[in-house]
Amino acid sequence: MSKSSKRYTVTAALPYANGPVHIGHLAGVYVPADIFVRYLRSRKKDVLFVCGSDEHGVPITIRAQKEGVSPQQVVDKYHRIIGDSFREFGISFDVYSRTSAPVHHQTASDFFKKLHADDAFEVKESEQYYDEKAGQFLADRYIKGTCPNCGYTEAYGDQCESCGTSLSPSDLKDPRSMLSGAKPVMRKTTHWYLPLNDYESWLRKWILEGHKEWKSNVYGQVKSWIDQGLQPRAVTRDLDWGVPVPLKEAEGKVLYVWFDAPIGYISATKDWAEKSGKSWEEYWKDEDTNLVHFIGKDNIVFHCIIFPAMLKAHGDFILPENVPANEFLNLEGNKISTSRNWAVWLHEYLQEFPEKQDVLRYALCANAPETKDNDFTWKDFQAKNNNELVAILGNFVNRALVLTHKFYDGKVPAAGELFDIDNELIAKIKKLPAQTGENIEQYKFREALNTMMELARAGNKYLADTEPWKLVKENPERVKTIMNLGLQIAANLTIVAAPFIPFAMDKLQKMLNLSDLYWSEAGRTDLLQEGHQLEAAQLLFEKIEDQKVEEQVKKLEDTKAANEAENIKAAPAKGEVTYDDFMKMDIRIGTILEAEKVKKSKKLLKLKVDTGIDQRTIVSGIGQYFEPEKIIGQQVSVLVNLAPRPIMGIESQGMILMAEDSDGSLTFVLPGKKVADGSGVS
Ligand code: 2FM
Ligand code: ZN
Repeated sequence: MSKSSKRYTVTAALPYANGPVHIGHLAGVYVPADIFVRYLRSRKKDVLFVCGSDEHGVPITIRAQKEGVSPQQVVDKYHRIIGDSFREFGISFDVYSRTSAPVHHQTASDFFKKLHADDAFEVKESEQYYDEKAGQFLADRYIKGTCPNCGYTEAYGDQCESCGTSLSPSDLKDPRSMLSGAKPVMRKTTHWYLPLNDYESWLRKWILEGHKEWKSNVYGQVKSWIDQGLQPRAVTRDLDWGVPVPLKEAEGKVLYVWFDAPIGYISATKDWAEKSGKSWEEYWKDEDTNLVHFIGKDNIVFHCIIFPAMLKAHGDFILPENVPANEFLNLEGNKISTSRNWAVWLHEYLQEFPEKQDVLRYALCANAPETKDNDFTWKDFQAKNNNELVAILGNFVNRALVLTHKFYDGKVPAAGELFDIDNELIAKIKKLPAQTGENIEQYKFREALNTMMELARAGNKYLADTEPWKLVKENPERVKTIMNLGLQIAANLTIVAAPFIPFAMDKLQKMLNLSDLYWSEAGRTDLLQEGHQLEAAQLLFEKIEDQKVEEQVKKLEDTKAANEAENIKAAPAKGEVTYDDFMKMDIRIGTILEAEKVKKSKKLLKLKVDTGIDQRTIVSGIGQYFEPEKIIGQQVSVLVNLAPRPIMGIESQGMILMAEDSDGSLTFVLPGKKVADGSGVS
């Protein structure tokens, strides 16, 4: 916080509204941002915390197409799920807006018009793939073809998911449109480009010379982008979902999602201002405002280079004071993946661990990937809860309150003569809140959490060392001092721990019968006056049993097995097999007797199949293409001697053979006419 700090605009990356939020998002962006903002509010700063759903872009249109609904329906669904789960998790946005809102369309459109009027864009013609059947240009993700590197036939226009190579659509062999299946043709199109190369020397000066204090991971990435040389970036797209380009000659085009999304921060501020009768402009135009963007590392280039260049080109707005981006969080040793469902989803966590928001907030902050990628494990989550929140903070607070009720009917006793052990404790009470605050201001949230916990640890140790429960008979005066100091620490925790674990600290505040205290009061040992009446003690945290985390680990193992089962059909060209190898497979014709969806899976169906030999359960990844009730009685080909394997907790005893079309749709592999169940295929 180097600049004058009259006012803060704090933004958290707008999540894409094409899926729910997971722990990776939380640890990287929303938990640290919320801690920062809660701390600033406690320091009575004027702070506005903005966020909203990022509702444009190709992935949303692809999802809509797959689900057979409109893009608006997709974003409506996820906007609600994401917004609700943030709220329930205690992410204290002042506003959670969305980019399909009219205020955003207007703001983004005006922004583009101003840059256009000021001649900030270059207009260039280029050739792009066009689907003549569907009558539209194709975004990279809408083109599939054969990877020039590994021969995988399902590679996307921007990447081969089999070998990981980055591609551009023209690299693909035998390209085909995912809209109609047709072979796309090259056609000329015009786009508007922001010439980032023109901003290079300005960016160098502003960030590389002027913001050396930025986190090294952010600074390093920016430097490497600038050193590689910046290129003009297209800010328009040929797509029918997004903010229309506000020019007559650009009909059918929309603003590139990464052009409109960061403007979403400004629109969200307008949305907030309209609803609360405040002015939005000072949060974006006044030089006394500190603009801070919380993001994940994949967003660095957009927030440190492209958006600042846009703001600079516009001219009316302030620039970010800092962009404290985090690295990525892994889950149980593997990269979090939305498409493979390798994630802990916030809305599911909230259901499965009711009223345990603080535990996840704490565990994610303790493991925040601040300087390098980090790993979340359920074992560690349990340990953080049981060994730290329960055994240290919760135990200390509980002892302090329960003993005060027992000894003094819940009235705070007066402190008397102080000894060395008391003075050492008082020194910590004075020092630790300030240190916690400094760490937060430097975006060192893990360190801040440790410093905060030192206060709880000091309180816990103080009670353990002084043993007031033993001393009370023999030296009641001394015990009054001990209990008074213990309670003063608890009162300090309601201030210092609140940004991290706000739910528990609200509860503690009520138990201590305290009104809101601010950060400036932390460090004092007279927050609770003699005779102050406490409320009844309640437990702040409870132990998490092994079984609870084992269930979660099991859920992930099931996901892994399901992914493997689904990948069997997506594998690229396979190696040669011998005749004998092939003959090992026992494929029979059978009939589906029962079918139902597997809970929590979009793709899996649990089938009961008569194979002619027996009736057995098979889990099959065909759920996106077949309604369970419609396939009862359907004949199928079954690999009956596949070793049984658990999929999502169900033992699958075989595999249904399917043919996959180029658009990914599935058809049963069957003989030309009905045959008896149990007939062999060879
Ligand atoms: O990476 C993402 O999830 C983007 N939706 C973040 C956008 S941040 C801002 F620019 F809106
Ligand atoms: Zn490949």
